[in-house]
Amino acid sequence: MTNDFLQTPAVQTLLDRSAGIDQPGGDARLKAITRDLLEGLMATIIKHDITESEFWQAISFLQNGAQELGLIVPGVGLEHFMDLVMDERDAEAGRTGGTPRTIEGPLYVAGAPIVEGDANLTSDPDETGTLRMQGQVTGPDGEPVKDAILHVWHANSKGFYSHFDPTGEQTPFNNRRRIKLGDDGRYSFHSKMPNGYSVPPQGATDVLMQALGRHGNRPAHVHFFIEAPGYRTLTTQINFGDDPFARDDFAFGTRDGLLPVPERDGIDAGIVFDFSLQRATSHDEEEFSARARAEA
Ligand code: DHB
Ligand code: FE
Repeated sequence: MTNDFLQTPAVQTLLDRSAGIDQPGGDARLKAITRDLLEGLMATIIKHDITESEFWQAISFLQNGAQELGLIVPGVGLEHFMDLVMDERDAEAGRTGGTPRTIEGPLYVAGAPIVEGDANLTSDPDETGTLRMQGQVTGPDGEPVKDAILHVWHANSKGFYSHFDPTGEQTPFNNRRRIKLGDDGRYSFHSKMPNGYSVPPQGATDVLMQALGRHGNRPAHVHFFIEAPGYRTLTTQINFGDDPFARDDFAFGTRDGLLPVPERDGIDAGIVFDFSLQRATSHDEEEFSARARAEA
């Protein structure tokens, strides 16, 4: 069978009816997207001669793995692809400069404590070393960004995030803060050293990665959102440049310009990292994306 089969009236009529193309109601954009998505899936089924059993195995995988979709999306590179798309749209609009964006990942929790000054992120005891990070947030002309809020979150020494920790050992908002910056745009914080992250063993993401001959590891990293009046909200993260997975991140979150090598001193480490924001061209750009996020 060839792809010509997709062009038969039986299939084309099915697609029109499935996507509601022949109905007056509904959302026109959604109809067009739904039709194309279904047609793309059908084309893949034909191209690879997918059997009925394989088809239903795939449906089961998605059904059972539904709670891990937020992990699978970065794992298969789609979240990074969205960054590449947004970068390209920016380039087409002549918008360049600033700290590169990179994936948010699925593990942000809204509502972290708001703190000022040299912030301590870690509330839980932990025998590992201390991470110190500091730097400045500036705008396109090098001006200090005023009244920024730096959202920061990272894993603990076992690679687990509070709120999502399978051991249930962490207190709420451990290693999560919103740091309110002053007029100079400077920030500094300290916390217990994060370790690299691995997807939950035997979970849907792990099963998929193994089936693809891949792994589910990320280097040690620290996530940020930076929001400030008049500036475009930045979603980014730094990944430790000396981590074994620094160049082999299963979630494709590591990017040039976001791989500082920590200054090591025994079990402690320090990172100096400056952020540069773009100016917002609309109020929307000062906001967060509409992504659903955990709250606590
Ligand atoms: C995943 C986990 C992370 O900590 C992250 O930053 C990005 C992705 C994941 O499990 O897919
Ligand atoms: Fe992460």
